Amino acid sequence: MEKLGPGSDADTLHVLAMIPRDSFPLVVDAGSGIGRQTLALAGRLQTAVHAIDTAAKHLDSLNRYSAQFGIAHLVHTHCMDMADIPANFRDVDLLWSECAAYHIGFPNALATWLLAIRPGGYAVVSELSWLRDEVPEHVRAYFRSGYPDMRTVDENLSIARTAGYEVIATHLLSKSAWVDGYYDKLEPLAHSLLQHPEKAVRAFAAQTLEGIRIFDSAEDNYGYVFYVLRKPEGGTAKGT
Ligand SMILES: C[S@@+](CC[C@H](N)C(=O)[O-])C[C@H]1O[C@@H](n2cnc3c(N)ncnc32)[C@H](O)[C@@H]1O
Repeated sequence: MEKLGPGSDADTLHVLAMIPRDSFPLVVDAGSGIGRQTLALAGRLQTAVHAIDTAAKHLDSLNRYSAQFGIAHLVHTHCMDMADIPANFRDVDLLWSECAAYHIGFPNALATWLLAIRPGGYAVVSELSWLRDEVPEHVRAYFRSGYPDMRTVDENLSIARTAGYEVIATHLLSKSAWVDGYYDKLEPLAHSLLQHPEKAVRAFAAQTLEGIRIFDSAEDNYGYVFYVLRKPEGGTAKGT
């Protein structure tokens, strides 16, 4: 896999360009995985990006890729929990996280990372979000077990404001970013594992295929939304 979640360099760089600033001395990528977006950010910004992940094997892959692309000097990997970012990084100018914040809970992630961000600094966090109020029952039913914490865009914006951020913009991840290099790779892989001797592997393969089937039939009821947020100068939007 060239990426561990839905995403594309085109979307990453489009969102980066939505931020009304172009220089970020300290960039942290939370839940980087194998670092598709880490490499895109470091390449575009030509500045150091600190990639955080708890999976050492993902960071090993990222280190290999950054060397292949000739930007190893810009990519620094840290095998650690993204919940511990404030204990290890101060005055972050740009906190980036794609398809990963849900691991520690979107509201918790935003509140935790605010502590590490410099006043006037930015957070860009992508989160699976409901896009409509009326959602077909088969889609609701899948996510009742798949991701029961999924919220609407308005609910997530309210969470961001309550945490103390200003909302700068949102961006809906393109549909092709779900398919190209992700679902189109996962689908044949999952099919090949349906007869695997281990029950857990068979179940995971079936669940993956069901997720792809739901995506194909769900139209625009849900999507990955980038929330582009800013920590206000002199504190938070709550005035604390
Ligand atoms: C779905 S992948 C997304 C990876 C990458 N951001 C992308 O979009 O391709 C989520 C990543 O979060 C990492 N992760 C999960 N829990 C974590 C935690 N508490 N702290 C740091 N990384 C974590 C996983 O190891 C995995 O690499």
